[in-house]
Amino acid sequence: MLNRVDQIHKAAGASDSKKLQVNDFSVRYGLVSALEDINLTISSGQIVSVIGPNGAGKSTLLNALMGLLESHRGSVSWGDCYLTGFEIAERVEQGLSLVPEKRELFTTLSVEDNLRLGGYSKLSLGRAHTLQKLQSIYRLFPRLMERREQLAGTLSGGERQMLAIGRALMSEPRLLMLDEPSLGLAPRVTKEVFKVISSLRDTGVAILLIEQNARAALQVSDYAYLLENGRITLHGPSAELINNPKIIDTYLGLATTN
Ligand SMILES: Nc1ncnc2c1ncn2[C@@H]1O[C@H](COP(=O)(O)OP(=O)(O)OP(=O)(O)O)[C@@H](O)[C@H]1O
Ligand SMILES: [Mg+2]
Repeated sequence: MLNRVDQIHKAAGASDSKKLQVNDFSVRYGLVSALEDINLTISSGQIVSVIGPNGAGKSTLLNALMGLLESHRGSVSWGDCYLTGFEIAERVEQGLSLVPEKRELFTTLSVEDNLRLGGYSKLSLGRAHTLQKLQSIYRLFPRLMERREQLAGTLSGGERQMLAIGRALMSEPRLLMLDEPSLGLAPRVTKEVFKVISSLRDTGVAILLIEQNARAALQVSDYAYLLENGRITLHGPSAELINNPKIIDTYLGLATTN
């Protein structure tokens, strides 16, 4: 698995270490506060998860980091670059990529065309490069290869998730943000997807994982933040949080990856 993903990221120079630093970051919808004073750090080769209940602000955080929403306070830096004021396309150029909660695939286009659109920012590297990338995504998700002519709108939930991740990988991200990758997936498919996520970490990609499935998230991540009502109320190494009584009582109820 590592070799496959290695090929995907070789060209991106994913081995150069970088850090995302979110400082006192706050976001509002109109006058209503959605995120208050968020402080969070992720380094290359690390999976950081953000867990929390419905409406806590998890998707808001990812959307704001991707430039889909503006913050009203605080800053975000990626390596030595401040992202404030950067458009989405510029953030993609910087190596950020988002797998959104609603997947947002082009349902009337084929699997392969969806992947090609994901690689749009790398078009200047040439046709051969795009083909190589496509092949590496197909090796990672053989199911997508079998279905490459199929319209994205007719894929199963699991296949859609694979396509959304594959499309994000086409831009050769250095920071991959995933919004609830386990949503709607059978436990077996969730395991498969999380295995791919772990192998991406091993190639030096920084991964920000948003999950309601706290158990799966804490099992796969290195460090975790609990987001409740727009604020971070707890954070620490995932191996510690998984034994934290509050986390156990409130978030580790019945969710399981087995
Ligand atoms: N465009 C919007 N306008 C106004 N309020 C919004 C908007 N988008 C989200 N909100 C509100 O902001 C809060 C945080 O929403 P968000 O989608 O970030 O939560 P979440 O943690 O991702 O929840 P879930 O687990 O259900 O996906 C919610 O109260 C939501 O209703
Ligand atoms: Mg959400």
